[in-house]
Amino acid sequence: MKALPTFDLVLFGGTGDLAMRKLLPALFRRHIAGEISTDSSIIGVARSDLSREEYLGQVETTCRSHLKQDFDEARWAEFAPKIRYQKVDAHADQDFQALAQSLLGRDSYVRVFFLSTAPDLFTAICEGLAKHRLNTPISRVVLEKPLGHDRASANAINESVGAIFTEDRVFRIDHYLGKETVQNLLALRFGNMLFEPLWGRGRIQNVQITVAEDLGVERRAEFYDRTGALRDMVQNHLLQLLCIIAMEPPASSDPAAMRDEKRKVLRALKPLAGRDVLSKTVRGQYKAGASNGEPVVGYLQEKGVPASSTTETFVALKAEIDSWRWAGVPFYLRTGKRMQERLSEIVITFEDVPVAIYERPDDARAWNRLIIQLQPEESINLGVLAKSPGAGMRLKPVDLSLDFSETFPERQLDAYERLLTDVIKGNLMLFMRRDELDAAWQWIDPIREAWEQHDERPKSYTAGSWGPAAASSMISRDGFSWSNEL
Ligand code: BG6
Repeated sequence: MKALPTFDLVLFGGTGDLAMRKLLPALFRRHIAGEISTDSSIIGVARSDLSREEYLGQVETTCRSHLKQDFDEARWAEFAPKIRYQKVDAHADQDFQALAQSLLGRDSYVRVFFLSTAPDLFTAICEGLAKHRLNTPISRVVLEKPLGHDRASANAINESVGAIFTEDRVFRIDHYLGKETVQNLLALRFGNMLFEPLWGRGRIQNVQITVAEDLGVERRAEFYDRTGALRDMVQNHLLQLLCIIAMEPPASSDPAAMRDEKRKVLRALKPLAGRDVLSKTVRGQYKAGASNGEPVVGYLQEKGVPASSTTETFVALKAEIDSWRWAGVPFYLRTGKRMQERLSEIVITFEDVPVAIYERPDDARAWNRLIIQLQPEESINLGVLAKSPGAGMRLKPVDLSLDFSETFPERQLDAYERLLTDVIKGNLMLFMRRDELDAAWQWIDPIREAWEQHDERPKSYTAGSWGPAAASSMISRDGFSWSNEL
């Protein structure tokens, strides 16, 4: 495996959930894979007064629990010396000075500032970095989502970050784009001719994107209650998946070509505003129920959630794209916490045959479909109707399946491993450009405003279910059902 260029990764929010659960284990895995050069370093940065040993202790614990049997003592002994800790308060000038001191003489290495903090600190951090000349010509900044809480705040952040880092050095991360199956979707669409003639109105009846989680808000109640499912998941992950399905073939594999096409899709989304929002969206909040057989509390009883919170933990909506390819094809998006199971999938249902000449199940019109499953397993299934064995011509749905773990038994990179290495290599392909993000917020803001204006409160759903009944009614009004209801 080819080593990455030598780098210094400065991880703001270095003691936070994302750093501990995803980023540091991902870096350790890349070290085990032999990609991290001897001189590279990782500097965890946070406000707490921690010694290097204390921080390292936390990182070791998290890496052990995530890598389990893959944890390798000898490789850890090589990796640990690369990790340092620096206390930085985003508003304390002397802390940036100390950070600059710790990076002295390392200007020739790739420098990555990963901002995994609340977005309202992004500006202060970037200004601190600039003031102390930490933003070398080969430095990059990674911005974790959600970037802002609406279009105006996202623009303000982009403006101030953009004053310090040029756009080609800004990596706006959406970890869904780093998932192997999402890239396989690109391969499926643009590496084969098979689907292209079928890809659009007249051939596709509807598209469903579900990102269901069985987890609740875990330790992130404070963040989540300010954010809600629309901003946490729909504005980024679900809209990015929609873009990958709906975009036109990019002219080349150049990052700009793909980003241009994704932006066009976002700009073509039919605005959802005013009363339309009430019939085409459903927001929900989970109440007590069960998860994986265990009783669980409702959202309002979660530690750190105000008892009167109206934050949504579930969203279902109908999106439409005003383009020649997609006009009239509904895209149903759905995401929620504490749902029946962890399931992320894209289901593309094709139109029915014009005349059914064979005996077939009543719901046969929904079985000609392509299911791209991202989680828990990565697979692609094409549902077709085949003849049931025996006399007569009776049709039965069957799947043509591709299971990635069977076909490619080698270990797949986790999304953050891939994205972190892309940042270090400077590859922008899987990151969002500023205008894409702006177009996404432009579509999302009126939905939130309409909810507030019409005092649309979340409908409750039982933890461990598929969300509020209203989500099923919304789709059934169009004559369809969610894929799990077939
Ligand atoms: C994050 C959200 O972006 O994605 C979380 O902030 C969510 O709330 C997570 O749990 C889901 O990611 P994954 O990869 O586990 O589906």
